[in-house]
Amino acid sequence: MKVLVIGGGAREHALCRSLSQDSDVTELHCAPGNAGIAQVATVHPVDQLDGAAVAALARQLAADLVVVGPEAPLVAGVSDAVRAAGIPVFGPSGEAAQLEGSKAFAKDVMAGANVPTARSYVCTTPAEAAEALDAFGAPYVVKDDGLAAGKGVVVTSDRAEALAHAASCERTVIEEYLDGPEVSLFAITDGVTVLPLQPAQDFKRALDGDEGPNTGGMGAYSPLPWAPEGLVAEVLETVLQPTVDELRHRGTPFSGLLYAGLALTSRGTRVIEFNARFGDPETQVVLARLRTPLAGVLLAAANGTLGQLEPLRWDDGAAVTVVIASEGYPAAPRTGDVIEGLAEAEAADGTVFVLHAGTRAGEDGEVLSAGGRVLSVTATGTDLAEARTRAYEGVGKITLKGGQHRTDIALKAAE
Ligand code: AMP
Ligand code: GLY
Repeated sequence: MKVLVIGGGAREHALCRSLSQDSDVTELHCAPGNAGIAQVATVHPVDQLDGAAVAALARQLAADLVVVGPEAPLVAGVSDAVRAAGIPVFGPSGEAAQLEGSKAFAKDVMAGANVPTARSYVCTTPAEAAEALDAFGAPYVVKDDGLAAGKGVVVTSDRAEALAHAASCERTVIEEYLDGPEVSLFAITDGVTVLPLQPAQDFKRALDGDEGPNTGGMGAYSPLPWAPEGLVAEVLETVLQPTVDELRHRGTPFSGLLYAGLALTSRGTRVIEFNARFGDPETQVVLARLRTPLAGVLLAAANGTLGQLEPLRWDDGAAVTVVIASEGYPAAPRTGDVIEGLAEAEAADGTVFVLHAGTRAGEDGEVLSAGGRVLSVTATGTDLAEARTRAYEGVGKITLKGGQHRTDIALKAAE
């Protein structure tokens, strides 16, 4: 099978790594990729937001499957362009990707499907925003309706700050504050059958102890030893399946990866947000534990045959990933610095590996930082403690001027 992956972050590196280990995959391509992906796939300098260009590349390569990684190309309709060219694609249509692209749309779908989520108002004027804030009280949760690359949500007890964020957005969703631990649960779906993966937890704040600004995610681990038994089955029944059914009934069937961001509150499980793609960095740990070869699963979702698949097989052990970010991330990341120790950080037996996000190859073959989140070190082990120790040993071997990472990823869960 020839597979083309669209995107160039650590999530796509994780996907490419798994696909490169799948004996069904005879050729692996990625556009635009990054310096790490180039080690396992042939990379192509194609604009990932250009559906026609992506479809043309897929046709030229005679790809059997295209996997669209990030949200921006999904919302831009890149999957539609590939599907229209007659090539199977893993990733929802632009319309179905509105589940991530518009928080108001997601709320409407959840209301229609009776999915538990925070109560909310959609606001377009300052007066509406003020009324909504006062209806819920502090802490206030104000979300930009559209895609905002992780910068759209403000959670604050400062009413003026909440109002200012609302004023800076064209349309906002203001909602009730949800208290409780967060869980990311991914499901693969063909629009009818829903196959949940293993849950993971992400660390969104930049600094240890969940301090500092929100980021795209500074680390993750799986499984969650503290999670209630039956969580996955409950979320499948109350969240994932009803959402997929609702979207199909609306005439916008969703196939690809449905990401449920959940809060386990004292009043029950609630959806914080949906995404229409694999999460980053959770994908790194979830795929590290998946034993079933990946390509066949993604192709079955693309072809609508997920119902015929054998149950997924998982490693009983644990996985931990730690993100190394640039100095100044997330506000103003510095780039262009040499990264050293990449090969030394990896273990020959595959228990520790480096996945690239914002990197590029320098002129003399060196690897340079090229973004906010630069790379993530992922490790597996028999339990979280072992995986965590291995991941941090790997992190310790990598040098990047001004590089930053959290030291407490999976710490509480491992203890
Ligand atoms: P999002 O961009 O939707 O992933 O939101 C970013 C983060 O904001 C989430 O991971 C939560 O930590 C927080 N958040 C979003 N919505 C709520 C809510 N209703 N209550 C509490 N925290 C929230
Ligand atoms: N880890 C959060 C996200 O992928 O949106």
